[in-house]
Amino acid sequence: MTSASISLRSPDQQLTEEEVLVVAASTADGEVSVRGSLGASFGTEIEAALEASLEAVAFGGKKDEFVRLPAPAGVTAKAVAVVGLGTAEPDLEALRYAAGVAGRRATGSAPVVLDFGVETPAELEAVAEGAGLGSYDYTDYRGTGTSSEEPVAPRRIEVVHGALAAEDAATALERARTSAEAVELVRDLVNVPALDLYPANYADKVQELVEGLPIEVAVWDEEQLVAQGFGGIAGVGQGSARPPRLVKVSYHPAAAEKHIALVGKGITFDTGGLSLKPPVSMIGMKYDMAGSATVLAAVLAAARLDLPVRLTAWLCLAENMPSGVAIRPGDVLTIRGGRTVEVLNTDAEGRLVMADGLVAASEEKPDAIIDVATLTGAAVVALGNRYTAAMGDERLIDQVLQAADAAGEKIWPMPLPEELRPLLASDIADIANVKPGNTAGGMLVAGVFLKDFVGKDDAGVTIPWAHLDIAGPAQNKDGGYGYTVKGPTGVTVRTLLRLAEAFSRA
Ligand code: BES
Ligand code: MN
Ligand code: ZN
Repeated sequence: MTSASISLRSPDQQLTEEEVLVVAASTADGEVSVRGSLGASFGTEIEAALEASLEAVAFGGKKDEFVRLPAPAGVTAKAVAVVGLGTAEPDLEALRYAAGVAGRRATGSAPVVLDFGVETPAELEAVAEGAGLGSYDYTDYRGTGTSSEEPVAPRRIEVVHGALAAEDAATALERARTSAEAVELVRDLVNVPALDLYPANYADKVQELVEGLPIEVAVWDEEQLVAQGFGGIAGVGQGSARPPRLVKVSYHPAAAEKHIALVGKGITFDTGGLSLKPPVSMIGMKYDMAGSATVLAAVLAAARLDLPVRLTAWLCLAENMPSGVAIRPGDVLTIRGGRTVEVLNTDAEGRLVMADGLVAASEEKPDAIIDVATLTGAAVVALGNRYTAAMGDERLIDQVLQAADAAGEKIWPMPLPEELRPLLASDIADIANVKPGNTAGGMLVAGVFLKDFVGKDDAGVTIPWAHLDIAGPAQNKDGGYGYTVKGPTGVTVRTLLRLAEAFSRA
């Protein structure tokens, strides 16, 4: 684990000289008001003194603002830091965000005590979750060249639980930890360079991760993929010396009434294949397996939380490489179930592996299918780097958006215009994977392609399906903000978890 360990702290427990206290504050009309049990623990005079020194340094109380002050007289602590809340009436996301800032910026080896004056279990959960997410730090590849001056994220954070009953606080903490650990897992898997993460060892890693959990894993190797008609995954993977895999991760608790299938794009590296990417576009293509890591982490977390919902994740794993045995533009692949695809651009490989995954997922006739993929550069053009695009069944999208809202994730609905389907007409196969030269609505065209591979239920009705294109937000290229660190973000894991909870109740 590469985040701080998060635990609870009783408001009665005295601070020590080693600890850093972090409180949250907002500013209105130049007047700072600190949130937290500081007044209750240390007396209102100390609180007033702290507010005065914040006013003196022109603390604006804005989001992402963080100041570290010497501990005021009368407070035993190494230092007191203050995070801006951005608002005097923070909602859960504002608290989660501010806790994330604390987790990122309260650097150093000192244990951190977060006192945000939480009043409800949901507030405690948001603060603990944000702190876990923000303190993420990936150090596996730091060698001896690391300077000791470099700031390190805190390793221990305690969240003051205010007047909450111990049991409520413990439950909230457990949910926060599980959720933050799910995001961390995605960030860890995505961070691993493609040299060290490829379909076969990724599949092995999945087997390790489910140990001790009520989850079954099935793996298809390259021969089984070919024998069982998974021509998309087999075809994309055939150019690499490191063969493809399909991994099925099943969580099926006895109490489950609903079944959600999740399909994840797991291209461990995307060179573009023979339709080779230019050098700059290839940088970062180790991120192209983020969707698969996301659906995996969501199932693991749901099992840890014992959610009464059946979840099946399909991880479509392949490395997209150019070689003497790679597929060529103009080749035709047969997807599971028999539909044929003319591959006019080998760099539109995600939709080929996802087609197999969607067909396989549909065969079990789940109540809903959600796919997650770093599918198109066009998604980045359309929505930038912070919004996930959602396409598909309107009702399911509504449910996804509600879950996203509860999780504090940004997901935006996009259309799947049927008039785009003729663009993908092929001269010789059932469908082509791209319209060469067409740049209009590239993200939508990819979604329209995928739609062809979503199956029907026993009554002949198309299974509700939502497609999430995370090409933009999967990676945070800039500095950190809130609980989002630089690098892989793990977006949509927390939304999927909330959605799984919603389907548990339904
Ligand atoms: N993995 C890429 C999409 C991508 C681009 C993700 C940038 C993250 C950042 C995908 O496989 C791809 O190459 N898509 C092509 C599709 C095109 C050939 C129709 C693209 O977006 O250029
Ligand atoms: Mn590609
Ligand atoms: Zn790709």
